[in-house]
Amino acid sequence: MIQRDATYVVMGLLDSDSIAYAIGKAIGEGGGKVIFTVQSARMKKIFFDRNKALDQEVKDALDIRFCDITQDEEIEALFADIGPIAGVVHSIAYANPKTCLGPEFHTDAYDDLKTGFHISAVSLASVTRYAVPKMPDGGAVVALSFASEIAFAYYNWMHVNKAALEATVRGLARRHGRDYVRVNAISAGPLSTKAAGAIPGFKELGSTWERMAPIPWNPETDKEEVANAALFLIGPCSRKISGQVLYVDGGASIVGGELLPHEKPGGPVPGAE
Ligand SMILES: NC(=O)c1ccc[n+]([C@@H]2O[C@H](COP(=O)([O-])OP(=O)(O)OC[C@H]3O[C@@H](n4cnc5c(N)ncnc54)[C@H](O)[C@@H]3O)[C@@H](O)[C@H]2O)c1
Repeated sequence: MIQRDATYVVMGLLDSDSIAYAIGKAIGEGGGKVIFTVQSARMKKIFFDRNKALDQEVKDALDIRFCDITQDEEIEALFADIGPIAGVVHSIAYANPKTCLGPEFHTDAYDDLKTGFHISAVSLASVTRYAVPKMPDGGAVVALSFASEIAFAYYNWMHVNKAALEATVRGLARRHGRDYVRVNAISAGPLSTKAAGAIPGFKELGSTWERMAPIPWNPETDKEEVANAALFLIGPCSRKISGQVLYVDGGASIVGGELLPHEKPGGPVPGAE
């Protein structure tokens, strides 16, 4: 599904639960080379190095660079330092949970809103700008989104950031067609990661998905399904797809209300009783 032996940059590794880790692992298994980025050496030490879920051997084999996405010079240096690449995965988001997420939508924490917008949406453009020259034969950029079209409890300003991220995807797709670079997003269902754990009410979101997704969704194990979609979008099979948001959410996004018992796999057959 991907170009074997080509190099892909996967940004946003925190620990083995990160969506970035699942995508990088799948790229490696598919025969690609992976350069991961972590926000800083400090974050790596705290979250990745101490992570017991991975063997030291596996950790040592990874090519990990550092890049704080709010610092343009760090993004520029990252891409200046690597050879040609076939694609980039942007798996990064942040919003201060105390001020931007939670039971109250209204906030006067404007600096937090700006930071969240910069990290979660604008940074996709910064990354693409420096990555494109490293894709002389064309390539692909993929970002990770979540439910931008409706409003869930607690997710407040991250909904706004995700809507902006998806608009950024479309703007970049239009701008970089001339470079043969496609830009797309995956809108994933809820998955257990550090970022998700910081969202107040995340557990409720998981049970909402149980009631809404026609294809059952598992926040613990369905990262691999998101990784499969990412491989499709960064690989040659999606050569003519750009500016799109691909939903990998068990179909929850198209359901009005909640599923009735007979609509669920294994549910009662209507009229059979
Ligand atoms: N977990 C979910 O339920 C879910 C669902 C849909 C989409 N997503 C999206 O997937 C992406 C990855 O999140 P995740 O769930 O794997 O969580 P995660 O916590 O593993 O990853 C988030 C990453 O963002 C990085 N980051 C934050 N600020 C940064 C900065 N200034 N510079 C560089 N990196 C920075 C963090 O260091 C971390 O590596 C995010 O865009 C998230 O919104 C997550």
